[in-house]
Amino acid sequence: MNTVEIIRKKRDGHELTTAEIQYLIEGYANEMIPDYQMAAWAMAVYYQGMTSRETADLTMAMVKSGDQVDLSSIQGKKVDKHSTGGVGDTTTLVLAPLVAAAGVPVAKLSGRGLGHTGGTVDKLESIRGFSTELSTPEFVDLVNEHQIAVMGQTADLTPADKKLYALRDVTATVDSIPLIASSIMSKKIAAGADAIVLDVKTGDGAFMKEEADAIRLAKAMVEIGQHVGRETVAVVSDMSQPLGLAIGNAIEIKEAIETLQGKGPQDLTELSLVLGTQMLLLSGKYETTEEARQKLEQCIRDGSALEKLKVFISGQHGDVTSVENLEKLSQTEQQTPVLSEKAGYVESIQAEEIGLCAMKLGAGRATKDDEIDHQVGIILHKKVGDYVEMGEPLATLFVNRKRELAEVKQRLLGAIHLTDQEVLAPTLIRCLVTPKGVLRF
Ligand code: URA
Ligand code: CA
Repeated sequence: MNTVEIIRKKRDGHELTTAEIQYLIEGYANEMIPDYQMAAWAMAVYYQGMTSRETADLTMAMVKSGDQVDLSSIQGKKVDKHSTGGVGDTTTLVLAPLVAAAGVPVAKLSGRGLGHTGGTVDKLESIRGFSTELSTPEFVDLVNEHQIAVMGQTADLTPADKKLYALRDVTATVDSIPLIASSIMSKKIAAGADAIVLDVKTGDGAFMKEEADAIRLAKAMVEIGQHVGRETVAVVSDMSQPLGLAIGNAIEIKEAIETLQGKGPQDLTELSLVLGTQMLLLSGKYETTEEARQKLEQCIRDGSALEKLKVFISGQHGDVTSVENLEKLSQTEQQTPVLSEKAGYVESIQAEEIGLCAMKLGAGRATKDDEIDHQVGIILHKKVGDYVEMGEPLATLFVNRKRELAEVKQRLLGAIHLTDQEVLAPTLIRCLVTPKGVLRF
């Protein structure tokens, strides 16, 4: 096979064969094909797109480039959930115990946060003693015993994706729907999922700023799932403001616990129930949306979801007493309110900027090697549509270093826009994308 011919074929708008795609990805992973040829091909894909068959082939070629987690010794259908990344996105911490309490196994591989988005592993590590460094046999045993475990990503999953994503990042070819869709799906499939529920975010804090693009990405991923035999559905949800009220690590654990106690923010609760319902349906253990949703609501009401969280924490060597004593979780040297400089309705809260503010306080990493401070972060007191008086707190900053305080206060005030007109809260759940089509809410 000839790499130049393959690039030319894509450049001229033709469909590549399975063998040609396999040749490219394998060659690139093995350093037989250089960056400049791969970059030219990625740009050709950017302009010409790919058919859903090609996109599925690309996905599986990337899966085959590295290790695959074998979860076959876990009983039952393993349903994984993936979010395309948001700010203050506490859903995994709520969903995992909630879905496990409903009897569906949750075997999750999670990563650390980078930039304005947080990572589940970092959040869990704010619980004293909690470890996500499990061997695969330990991971499998925990899931078989308790229906729940979260393992940090250590295996060498999809190295071809890692290499291609880094190349796309410096060649202006990241924002191509087939390339994004295959990148995300390859990682989920390599992590051993039988079925996948995707939370595709849209809005300021999201990768896909426009809803129409988010729906196109959702459809592309659902189609990959169909092609490769991993049933996939996607929920398109709002990320025009942070999810819930807490943005940080320990304070997001606290928010998750409150949500499992039925006292959480409305948006986080609703999104968790919607995603959880889809996970239960895909597991095959529940027949109807109503039945699945009622089960999850019951697990919150009767305390079984919270009980499952405790089992999960102690199974991974975490200090369970923090669940009973929430103050233990977030002790900072200082808690500083940010007061509104005028009255009005909250028109928008720039999610990305809020995420960057939390990072600046030490809750996140600017580069991969930064240390994070688990205790610090931001609690919002207002969301879009709320009315605020002059001098009323918009947010509280949990701070351990005074150095960034003044700057963060100013940036936070700049990220929350007020208006005199009444404002409607944004619609949280935009639509559900399944193999049958797009269902609007
Ligand atoms: N996230 C990914 O994992 N891959 C992409 O290509 C874009 C976002
Ligand atoms: Ca949150």
